[in-house]
Order: sequence, then structure tokens, then C-alpha cells
Amino acid sequence: MIKIAPSLLAADMGDLRNAVAKVEKAGADYLHLDVMDGTFVPNISYGPAIIKTLRKNSKLFFDVHLMVEEPGRYLQDFAAAGADSICVHYEACRHLHRVIQHIKELGIKAAVALNPATPVSVLEDILPDLDMVLIMSVNPGFGGQSFIENSNNKIAKLSAMIKERGLDIDIEVDGGVYTGNIEKIAAAGANVFVAGTGIFGQPDYQAAISEMRKISENVQNKIN
Ligand code: DX5
Ligand code: ZN
Repeated sequence: MIKIAPSLLAADMGDLRNAVAKVEKAGADYLHLDVMDGTFVPNISYGPAIIKTLRKNSKLFFDVHLMVEEPGRYLQDFAAAGADSICVHYEACRHLHRVIQHIKELGIKAAVALNPATPVSVLEDILPDLDMVLIMSVNPGFGGQSFIENSNNKIAKLSAMIKERGLDIDIEVDGGVYTGNIEKIAAAGANVFVAGTGIFGQPDYQAAISEMRKISENVQNKIN
């Protein structure tokens, strides 16, 4: 199923509650929340306290993307703040299996993100434990970067791995996604689309979200 996930990183940081309400009204499915620690990535964003306060006024699915070294230390905090899904980076976890089991024990969805240089083959043994895989289509840390074309090859490989094994796992793509390239990305096999600039940078959020949904649903209907 197609999900459109605006990334709050591109919103007005001084008016986050209003930004969430606006994309919720505009038809978003997920709210993508980018947590950056200044170590795993060269930027710092927000943490569980902000997420907790946004949770009070929103019914959106909170898709929390942790760009944090050893995120296992903070899972409990983000679950308590209201995350519906937690995504950790393969590159940031020494004991990925333990981290994934912990997320599931907290009763929320578990996802793993891969940086552009990390091949999808590293997921071979953890794949059955995952609800979603996030393919980073930019180097994490900043919004507004250009989509790395090779990401579509990675998405296609991952999609084949999932199908071959009869698994039911969402493929999320994050970085440089907008109405102009979503068709190719959907054709490669992604079904959850994160967009920061592609939504918050547009004058009409509703138009951007519905256009992204229309294009990707058309592609998905042709594939199935
Ligand atoms: C980048 C973040 C993204 C970012 C995407 O490190 O993970 O979620 O907000 O921004 P755009 O869509 O502008 O590339
Ligand atoms: Zn993200």
C-alpha cells in the first residue's frame, strides 16, 4: 500500500505543531521524524520531548528515523514519546538483531535504514524480522539534496529479495523524492515515500501529496 510521509525536517521549526496539522489535513499518511545526533550525521535536529508534544495533537502514523549512534540506548524514550515505528541505521548498530527485537518488544514497527554505500545484501539474515526497510537516496544529515540514481537499483534488488522469500515488508525511500522522480522510484518497487522539500517546500501541500499518491498508485496498479 502506498504511504506518503512528509519529513518534518523541511518544515518551519518555529511552528512545528501547525506544520503537522497542515500536512495531516492535506492527506499525509505518515509523519516522518528525523532525529539526528551530531555524531552519526553532521547535524542535530530534535528528540523525544518534541515528538511527545507533537503526538498530543496528531493522529498521523509517527515514522521515527533515528540517525543516531547506537540507537538501542533511546528506543524506550521514543516509544514512550509516541513513535509508531522506529527505524535504525544498519551502520549505527553493533548488535542490530538485539535492537530490532527490542523495538518489537516495545509493541511498535521495526525498520532498518541503509546509507547509499551500504548494499542491500547485508539485510539477508535480518530481513524476516523487519516491517520496513528504508533506502537512503541521499547521504543522511540534511534535507534538500539531490536523489542518488543508484538508489533505484538498490530498491529493485531489495524488492526482488522480499518477493523471492515471500515476505511482506514495506520499502521506504528517503531523500530527494518529489513528484518529478516518484514514478521511477515506485516502478523500482518502493511504496513508502518520504519527502521534505518535495512537500513542505511546495506552495500547496495537498496538491503535492495527492500528485505523489496518484503517480505512485498508478505505477503500483500496473505492477500488480
Ligand atoms: C535526510 C533525512 C530526510 C530529509 C529528506 O537525512 O533523513 O528525511 O528530511 O529531505 P528531502 O526530501 O528534502 O531530501
Ligand atoms: Zn529521514
